[in-house]
Amino acid sequence: MNGWRRMFQRKPVEVLLQEGRARGGLKRTLGALDLVALGVGGIIGTGIFVLTGVAAARYAGPGLAVSFLISGTAAGLAALVYAEFASMLPAAGSAYTYTYASLGELPAWLIGWNLILEYIVASAAVAIGWGSYLADLLRSFGLILPKAFTAGPLAGGVLNLPPVFIIALVAAIGITGTRRSANLTHLMVTLKLGVVLLFIILGATRINSANWRPFFPFGPAGVMHGAAIIFFAYVGFDAVAAAGEEVKNPRRDLTIGIIGSLVLSTVLYVLVTLVLTGMVHYPRLNTASPIATALLSAGMGWASALVAIGALAGLTSVLLANLFAQSRVFFAMGRDGLLPPLFASLSSRFKTPAASLGIIAAGVTSLAALIPVEVVAQLANIGTLSAFLFVSAGLLVLRRRYPQLPRPFKTPFVPWTPLLAMAFSLYLIANLPPVTWIRLALWLAVGIAVYLFYGYRHSKRLPVEPAAGYPLVPEPAAKPLPNESEPEQKKSS
Ligand code: ALA
Repeated sequence: MNGWRRMFQRKPVEVLLQEGRARGGLKRTLGALDLVALGVGGIIGTGIFVLTGVAAARYAGPGLAVSFLISGTAAGLAALVYAEFASMLPAAGSAYTYTYASLGELPAWLIGWNLILEYIVASAAVAIGWGSYLADLLRSFGLILPKAFTAGPLAGGVLNLPPVFIIALVAAIGITGTRRSANLTHLMVTLKLGVVLLFIILGATRINSANWRPFFPFGPAGVMHGAAIIFFAYVGFDAVAAAGEEVKNPRRDLTIGIIGSLVLSTVLYVLVTLVLTGMVHYPRLNTASPIATALLSAGMGWASALVAIGALAGLTSVLLANLFAQSRVFFAMGRDGLLPPLFASLSSRFKTPAASLGIIAAGVTSLAALIPVEVVAQLANIGTLSAFLFVSAGLLVLRRRYPQLPRPFKTPFVPWTPLLAMAFSLYLIANLPPVTWIRLALWLAVGIAVYLFYGYRHSKRLPVEPAAGYPLVPEPAAKPLPNESEPEQKKSS
């Protein structure tokens, strides 16, 4: 087989399905509620607690509520595509795995490479935000953390310790058990949803409709610009798809998890934005803690400590989801030979990808000490949007190549839904600053070099690809797969 063909060889769907059923792999411990919590955990965070203010003040005004609807639609169309893949191929690795099955090895590698932008780079920013919220909360109790240990060397400090602390904690919990990490996610999500709902209810009583005039101060272009920036708030729903091999009833629950968490988050985002811009005139929202600002301006200072707690919980759940998803993507890439085998090794005691989690934690903490936060959200956005593009194209390919494969969830209105998802993603990419495209191009160039030096040579690709339309034995729908983890299930029930 020549080199080009090898680079575009697809991973047979049959092999993926077998890997998902094999014993000795990841344990199946997660249910539908866990997945909705993982999705909401990964979605609601920096986007709403930090970026909303700046996006309203500088780009969209109160019309940011419409920006949220637009980027929510892009994410929603992609979610419908992910849901079909997840129900059909409940394998670890999410977009990377789907692309390997549909478009081939090199596109899959590049998507896996871009997911590093989505999960690791974004986590660094989220961890830095976590540190700032912790400092704010402690300050409200009169405790001032020394600057030397709350800022990195580039920002006049010695070491930014709070991000290191939270990442180490989240990684340690992830290593010691998927069930334990899911339980912590439930707690964090409950806390953050409580705070978000409290804000909506308290704030709704203080809305002054004059603040909504004009509703679109920056016109349609501002709304679109806002949608591209605020898309960061939706980054993370695909963490649910990465859990494919750890779900008790993947064919049903992955769909519920992906679509349920996205719908819930979109409703909350629109309500928070309407309340926020109704309480405070948008030019005054140019702050990194807009929700606390709005409560303070309404004379509810007591509530701002609560917001800090909700934000800390929210950002912790985003970190839990990101580390979870990235470790599963690395696991799948290591299993395929595109990364060293260490990435696919499981802890013999906990059956979690412990080495991957450790490496990710080291990467996130180093980045948290170095990178400027403002470039990070845009990089994470473009990494995620490029994954949407490939996954949507991949759906069209797999529908043609494997028409008979059982699809417990079928994306409606194919080809229009994936085509629209691609159009929305391209439009949002076009609305990001051009410097972000250049950064992405550089990142992809490094990715191709790494692939040529390592992945291309070590890939475990099969020598012969089965013919298109390979006959498949249908799985009974909504039936638990055989390697469920009994001990963990008992613990959780
Ligand atoms: N969607 C996640 C957040 O807003 C990444 O923090």
